[in-house]
Amino acid sequence: MKWPQLLPLALHLVSIATASVPTESMEKALEPFKYNTFPLGTITATGWLHDQLELEANGLAGHLNDFYRFVAGSTWVGGDWEYSTLDEAAPYWFNYVVPLAWTIDDARLKAQAKEFLDYVLDHQAEDGWLGPEKTHQTRGIWARSLLFFGLVQYAQADPSETDRIVTAMHKFTILAHSMLKDNFTGLIENTTLGDEFDPYGFGLARAHELPMSLQWLYENYPRNNSEIIWETIELMFAGGVAGGKDWTTFFVEGVFPTLGTPYITTSSFTHGVNLAEGLRYPTVLYRMNGNSSLLDQTSLAVNLLTTYQSTLAGSITADEHLGGLSPERGSETCISVEMMFSMAYLYRFYGTNAYADRAERVAFNSLPAALSPNWWSHQYVQQVNQPWSRNLSAVPFANVNSYANSYGLEPNFPCCTVNHGQGYPKYVAASYVLEGDSHVIHALLGPETLSTKLATGNVTIACTTNYPFSGRLEYAITATTDISFSVRIPDWVNKTSSQYSLAAGSSKPLSSDSNNLQTFNLTKGTTRIAVELEMGIQVTESPANGTAAIYYGPLLYALDIDYNSTYHSPLSYSSLEPLPADQIVAQTHDYVLDPTSSWRYAIDPTSVTVQQVYDRDGQLQNPIWAKNATPFALFADAWLVPWEEDSGTAAVPPKYPNVTGSPSKIRLVPYGSAKLHIADFPIAVQSS
Ligand SMILES: *[C@@H]1O[C@H](CO)[C@@H](O)[C@H](O)[C@H]1NC(C)=O
Ligand SMILES: *[C@@H]1O[C@H](CO)[C@@H](O)[C@H](O)[C@H]1NC(C)=O
Ligand SMILES: *[C@@H]1O[C@H](CO)[C@@H](O)[C@H](O)[C@H]1NC(C)=O
Ligand SMILES: *[C@@H]1O[C@H](CO)[C@@H](O)[C@H](O)[C@H]1NC(C)=O
Ligand SMILES: *[C@@H]1O[C@H](CO)[C@@H](O)[C@H](O)[C@H]1NC(C)=O
Ligand SMILES: *[C@@H]1O[C@H](CO)[C@@H](O)[C@H](O)[C@H]1NC(C)=O
Ligand SMILES: *[C@@H]1O[C@H](CO)[C@@H](O)[C@H](O)[C@H]1NC(C)=O
Ligand SMILES: *[C@@H]1O[C@H](CO)[C@@H](O)[C@H](O)[C@H]1NC(C)=O
Ligand SMILES: *[C@@H]1O[C@H](CO)[C@@H](O)[C@H](O)[C@H]1NC(C)=O
Ligand SMILES: *[C@@H]1O[C@H](CO)[C@@H](O)[C@H](O)[C@H]1NC(C)=O
Ligand SMILES: *[C@@H]1O[C@H](CO)[C@@H](O)[C@H](O)[C@H]1NC(C)=O
Repeated sequence: MKWPQLLPLALHLVSIATASVPTESMEKALEPFKYNTFPLGTITATGWLHDQLELEANGLAGHLNDFYRFVAGSTWVGGDWEYSTLDEAAPYWFNYVVPLAWTIDDARLKAQAKEFLDYVLDHQAEDGWLGPEKTHQTRGIWARSLLFFGLVQYAQADPSETDRIVTAMHKFTILAHSMLKDNFTGLIENTTLGDEFDPYGFGLARAHELPMSLQWLYENYPRNNSEIIWETIELMFAGGVAGGKDWTTFFVEGVFPTLGTPYITTSSFTHGVNLAEGLRYPTVLYRMNGNSSLLDQTSLAVNLLTTYQSTLAGSITADEHLGGLSPERGSETCISVEMMFSMAYLYRFYGTNAYADRAERVAFNSLPAALSPNWWSHQYVQQVNQPWSRNLSAVPFANVNSYANSYGLEPNFPCCTVNHGQGYPKYVAASYVLEGDSHVIHALLGPETLSTKLATGNVTIACTTNYPFSGRLEYAITATTDISFSVRIPDWVNKTSSQYSLAAGSSKPLSSDSNNLQTFNLTKGTTRIAVELEMGIQVTESPANGTAAIYYGPLLYALDIDYNSTYHSPLSYSSLEPLPADQIVAQTHDYVLDPTSSWRYAIDPTSVTVQQVYDRDGQLQNPIWAKNATPFALFADAWLVPWEEDSGTAAVPPKYPNVTGSPSKIRLVPYGSAKLHIADFPIAVQSS
């Protein structure tokens, strides 16, 4: 019998024929980003932002792997703790500990990340599966999306691990491809087979997340596997569509909800965290199919969100489903960090100023508000008007419990415990971007330093600034090559009254281009640039409700309510009983913040003034997001007015309350530093 020998020969001929065709001509190109990122670790933080990252590393996020049952005892590392069948806790941790460790060059955290990497890669199954699951019923793909985010960052930060990481990713992708082709196994549960890896469809609604990392693999390390990678991405999207989770059907006028619960029908699309992630969906898909209506849908999605479902602090109102514009409703901490990641991703793709502004607004307002100054406790949901933080006597939220606005270890649900850490490390990593070979843009402003090797030479750009607590950005740039350098000018900046100066030269008004970039063409050597952004008070009014919000620069300002802070041992999110001693550490507390000053103020929004309350030679306090720590305060004329309570918290503000008598001056501080706050103020109407 000669047949068996012919078959391998024929295959051999086929593979030679295939190999003789240049691979590039066969491969489809992904639609490109407008800007590229720099490898993780080439951007570091200084000043207050570095302090925040150190606090994070020394706080809860940096210690989960030492004691937290869902990370240290995760099934991913041989334990048996998971808070859901998604098995997502340890991959969430990995997704942020990698950028945190490399951004602050922290040996302890790098070692923890390395230990996890080794364990996971060393335990990769024969068939390519990554993670602890062994059966059809338990093998859901979703948590691999988080793992892959961590792996991609790791591969960029530590080239000595890249090959091994990429090999594991390929092996998994080939398996995922075969699973997905088999009726979307691992993405859509088959209940006939007893599947229970994603009972609420979270992974299914986030089917575009794995593709983000697969697109990176496709572009950087395709290894003759391009077709499989491409098809795997298509299958993920097709599975999402088959499972009824096509976000392009939701980002449509008339479909996108203009109200919050209980006036809307909830679905995967109305879930706040899903939605924050779903904002990336049309763009990830566009990179595959070039369907330009997806571009319009992205801006429509962000506009609809801003008009109908956003908080004044930049995030999404959702507890856990959409809550409209009510300052009484909650906004989950996971939403803040996912919004930051989405907005940085969208800015990188489109260069649209509003996306970067939105990333900054969340980074400087919503995120810090959700955290205690020392980074050891966090809320599950924050309220824009939050007169107290404790177990509420009723529930003003749709689908979270009365304990959810407490600062603690795992209030309401542990996902924010394991996910809050990605915010600032990824913000810093996305702060500078590259256009072409040698155009560097400072996109997400703050005290950040880029030190990298471009195609044409080396460059270091150090931005010294107290931004967002000051509008002055001082750049020291050293380059061995000519470069273009741009500073992104936020939309709120008054360009006429803002200036820049080169070296010791005279100041000139800003002249940013249509992309809102103030660009400098620099010859090699050392250059100093100063940019002075006029912060300016901005008042936004909501005429329908008679309320006003006050911003100064990128910061939302809020009434700083005094409080009595007490704490007790952390409660289990599920039993609401104290956790056993071996599941906590000395620093973990759940707090009760009771107000000790008045909060029922209506203001005259035209009366707001600004005052520097301390200088300290330009040195900021650490921690900065703490009471009395920030250098500027605003003052407004205010009157105490009748203001009801509702569902255990402050009701929506009274509409245009009438006031008489002379006002008192109230002091407003950055929202992120005021753990009890009012930021959506009733507008007082003075009787004449
Ligand atoms: C896939 O689904 C289709 C339609 O539900 C069904 O006919 C087919 O048997 C399924 N295949 C497998 C392998 O489960
Ligand atoms: C679920 O699995 C059963 C048994 O293999 C199969 O007949 C059915 O088609 C599957 N359903 C889907 C939707 O894949
Ligand atoms: C791709 O395939 C060709 C031909 O089989 C081989 O020479 C090459 O080493 C492969 N490249 C990679 C990155 O695996
Ligand atoms: C492009 O995407 C939109 C949804 O955003 C869809 O309605 C339309 O059919 C798509 N067009 C093509 C050619 O696929
Ligand atoms: C306006 O008030 C209504 C209730 O009277 C509330 O549902 C809505 O969320 C409020 N909107 C804003 C922007 O505060
Ligand atoms: C929290 O308050 C609710 C009432 O809103 C009460 O039923 C519950 O027992 C309280 N829980 C704790 C842990 O105090
Ligand atoms: C750029 O930096 C690398 C080290 O990262 C160094 O080896 C190289 O010589 C530098 N190039 C120039 C032109 O200074
Ligand atoms: C911008 O600044 C200029 C110069 O100080 C001033 O005249 C103008 O009114 C400002 N514009 C706005 C919108 O505040
Ligand atoms: C910088 O150089 C580019 C191309 O050489 C030119 O188009 C641009 O106008 C220059 N920009 C400035 C601010 O000088
Ligand atoms: C703060 O709360 C504690 C415990 O409830 C109480 O003993 C103390 O008197 C309170 N202090 C103030 C200033 O309200
Ligand atoms: C304020 O006073 C005017 C005039 O007396 C009255 O018409 C209006 O209803 C009052 N508004 C409120 C909110 O009480």
